[in-house]
Amino acid sequence: MRLFLAGTASSGFHPAICIPMNSNIFAAMPSLQEQIHAYELEINAFTPADAADLEQYRIKFLGTKGIVKGLSTEMKNVPPEGRKEAGLLLNAFKQLAEAKYEQFANLKEDATGGKVVADITLPGTEIPMGTRHPLRMVENQIVSIFERIGFGVATGPEIEDDWHNFTSLNMPENHTARDMQDTFYVSQNPDWVLRTHTSSVQARILETQPLPVRVICPGRVYRNETISARAHCFFHQCEGLYVDKGVSFADLKQTLYYFVTEMFGPDTKVRFRPSYFPFTEPSAEMDISCTVCGGSGCSLCKHTGWVEILGCGMVHPNMLRNFGIDPDVYTGFAFGMGVERITQVKYQVNDLRLYSQNDVRFLRQFQGL
Ligand code: DAH
Repeated sequence: MRLFLAGTASSGFHPAICIPMNSNIFAAMPSLQEQIHAYELEINAFTPADAADLEQYRIKFLGTKGIVKGLSTEMKNVPPEGRKEAGLLLNAFKQLAEAKYEQFANLKEDATGGKVVADITLPGTEIPMGTRHPLRMVENQIVSIFERIGFGVATGPEIEDDWHNFTSLNMPENHTARDMQDTFYVSQNPDWVLRTHTSSVQARILETQPLPVRVICPGRVYRNETISARAHCFFHQCEGLYVDKGVSFADLKQTLYYFVTEMFGPDTKVRFRPSYFPFTEPSAEMDISCTVCGGSGCSLCKHTGWVEILGCGMVHPNMLRNFGIDPDVYTGFAFGMGVERITQVKYQVNDLRLYSQNDVRFLRQFQGL
C-alpha cells in the first residue's frame, strides 16, 4: 500500500511528498525524523485560504487515510528499542497537525461568511403539507353554497350584549327560552354574555343594514355545557337571514332544499317538523335522510332514517318591529345550523371533542378534501 500525499494544484499544498508505506521508515530513525521535520515545515507554513483548503489539509494529515494515521500504523515496524522515541516524535507531530487544524476551525463555520455550518447545496427538510381544519372546510362550503344564490356574508362580536343575544330576538327578560341556552355571563348589569347563538348577528344586521337583506353569518358560539362527546362549551353555527317584500315559507323550503342537495348530494331528502323558536313564527326543524344508511336505519339516525340538521322559520313580526321594520310590508325567513353537526353528518365524526383536540391523526384525514 502506498500513501500518496500529493495535494491537488488548487489545494495550496506542495505536491510530490510520497511515503512508501511498505518501506520500514521507522526502522531508520534519522529518515523518520527528516520526514516528520519536512511535514512540520509544511504544516507551519500552511495557512488555509478557505474552508475547502482547510478540509484538504484535514484529509491529508488527519483523515482516516492521512499521514498521521499512516505513520501510526507503521509503528509496528519500528524495532522495539526505537519505539519509545518514535512514539514521542509521532505524538508531538500529531499534536502539531491537530493544533493547526483547530487554529483555523472557525473557517469551518465561516465558509459562507456567517456562523453557519450548513451545506446549502443539500436538499431541504421536507415541510409536511398542512390542511384546513374540517370545521373551517365545512363552514367555507356552507358559505359558498349560499353565496352562489346571492347571500352575502356577515359576522358579529362573540361578546354580545343582552339586547342583541336575547331581548331583540323576542326573548325578553325572564323568557323561559333563555333557559334553553346555558349562558356564560361576562358581566351582569349591564349584561354582557358570550353569545349563545349566531342569531345575534341577525339582530345586528337588521339594526344596521338597509332592506332587502340576504346574509349568511358564520361564527363561534358558547354555552355553559359539560364537555362530552355530544356537547361542548364552544361550537360553531351558520345563521341565514333573508328579509324582503313577499318572502314566503316556500322560499325558505326551496332555499334549504337547494343547500341540502349541494352539501349532501342530489338524492338527499328533506322533511320539516313544526318546532318552536322565539324569533320565528312559524318555526320548524329540518331533517335530512340519513347520509350513512340512506334511510334504512343506523346509529347516526338512531334507526329513524332521518337526522336533524337545523332550525328555521319565518322571522317573528315582533322581531321585525324591534328594528323598526313593518311586518305588514316586509317578511323574512331565518335559519341556523351547527357547523359541527353538518360536519358530523357529512364525515361521520362521532365525538365533538375531536374538533378541538388538535390530534393530527384526526386532522390528517381531511387532507386534500
Ligand atoms: N338560534 C337557534 C339555536 O341556536 C338556531 C335557529 C333556529 C336559528 C331557528 C334561526 C332560526 O335563525 O330561525 O338553536
